[in-house]
Amino acid sequence: MSSRQDYIDFILDHYENPRNRGRLDPADATAKGGNPGCGDIVVISLNIDPETRVITEARFEGEGCTISQAAASAATEMIAGKTIDEILEMSGDDLVEILGRDLVSGRIRCATLGIHTVRAALRKYQAARRMDQIEADRVVDQGRELGLEFE
Ligand code: FES
Repeated sequence: MSSRQDYIDFILDHYENPRNRGRLDPADATAKGGNPGCGDIVVISLNIDPETRVITEARFEGEGCTISQAAASAATEMIAGKTIDEILEMSGDDLVEILGRDLVSGRIRCATLGIHTVRAALRKYQAARRMDQIEADRVVDQGRELGLEFE
């Protein structure tokens, strides 16, 4: 069981020594999330293995309070090596647990901005791939109507 001081140290360490800060360009998935209450932002960029659907690289950048930026850093570590489905099954609560519930309970939007932005990037990625699949199916259907064959 970690003490309150351990959680404070964890947050300060991520704030002062952010993990995975930066931007992937190009990236397979990106999203920008904001907390309208204060104007703080987090930008997430991800690379994803299309076969295994595992996150191979994750970066964040942004501006905001200590908790939002530390939490975004922690979020990029939390999702490394996980699949899209595993991450979409997580909730902001999983990150709150890591950061220390008592410490961040009054700052939930700060604490979960990063992980919610990750989830938004993955939803956009999935939607784009579904559109690609729909388009691919349409092209194949058109070809078949002409009597062509595809595997
Ligand atoms: Fe803006 Fe924390 S005060 S995200």
